[in-house]
Amino acid sequence: MDAPLSTPAAEYAVQLRGAWLRLGREVILRGVDLDIAAGEGVTLLGENGAGKTTLLRLLASSLRLTRGEGRVHGYDLRDSRSVRDHVHLMPVEGGTYPDLTAAENLDFALQMHRLSGDTGAALRRVGLEKAAERRVRFLSAGMRKRLNLARLSLLARPLTLVDEPFANLDAAGRHLALEVLAEVTGRGQTLLLAAHEPDLAAQVTGRALHLSAGSLTDSP
Ligand SMILES: Nc1ncnc2c1ncn2[C@@H]1O[C@H](COP(=O)(O)OP(=O)(O)OP(=O)(O)O)[C@@H](O)[C@H]1O
Ligand SMILES: [Mg+2]
Repeated sequence: MDAPLSTPAAEYAVQLRGAWLRLGREVILRGVDLDIAAGEGVTLLGENGAGKTTLLRLLASSLRLTRGEGRVHGYDLRDSRSVRDHVHLMPVEGGTYPDLTAAENLDFALQMHRLSGDTGAALRRVGLEKAAERRVRFLSAGMRKRLNLARLSLLARPLTLVDEPFANLDAAGRHLALEVLAEVTGRGQTLLLAAHEPDLAAQVTGRALHLSAGSLTDSP
């Protein structure tokens, strides 16, 4: 096993040591070691059911390690409050309030993080200016994805986790997703995205990891 987790917080966005994660009967991680440097862009690849979404949820402090140790920006994963202050997870779908409008969802997300931002500009950016006052339940899947991209960009957390950013998007939407994701690392923040489109993802991340049978390996 690698050295214990004594490195300065600023250097690594993610560190796992001997990480085991069981979910019901499934073993998602089998003693995984991982370092992701602050500011790095990384893609997580793997077959359906490999555990990509589960790993992202672990790093967002929504799940507990079964065994081993993990840190996000130096904060122990068990310290949910500190981890959540530093992390934003954009889920594959959902994550917004269906009875609030698009604009209200963004305002609420900013309030939750005690941030301010130009939600009108963020909605224009993702092509949702005409849908600003529509309830999210009446938006299409691609429109909801665009709303989630606007929120990700407004929140600008030190570690951004993105689950399948290209799903449900049209060609222009995929281009927009690439732009928004490139800005994350452009601002010096860390990006970890799970995707089934390695070529697209490689445009915004310099490193790819493959998750299979509970092991994480760097892809060539
Ligand atoms: N809450 C849960 N309880 C028990 N098992 C779960 C739970 N969530 C997911 N799993 C199982 O964990 C495994 C990994 O699921 P996960 O959603 O992380 O895969 P994934 O790599 O994101 O797949 P996909 O590419 O289809 O999105 C699957 O076998 C799944 O059935
Ligand atoms: Mg998944």
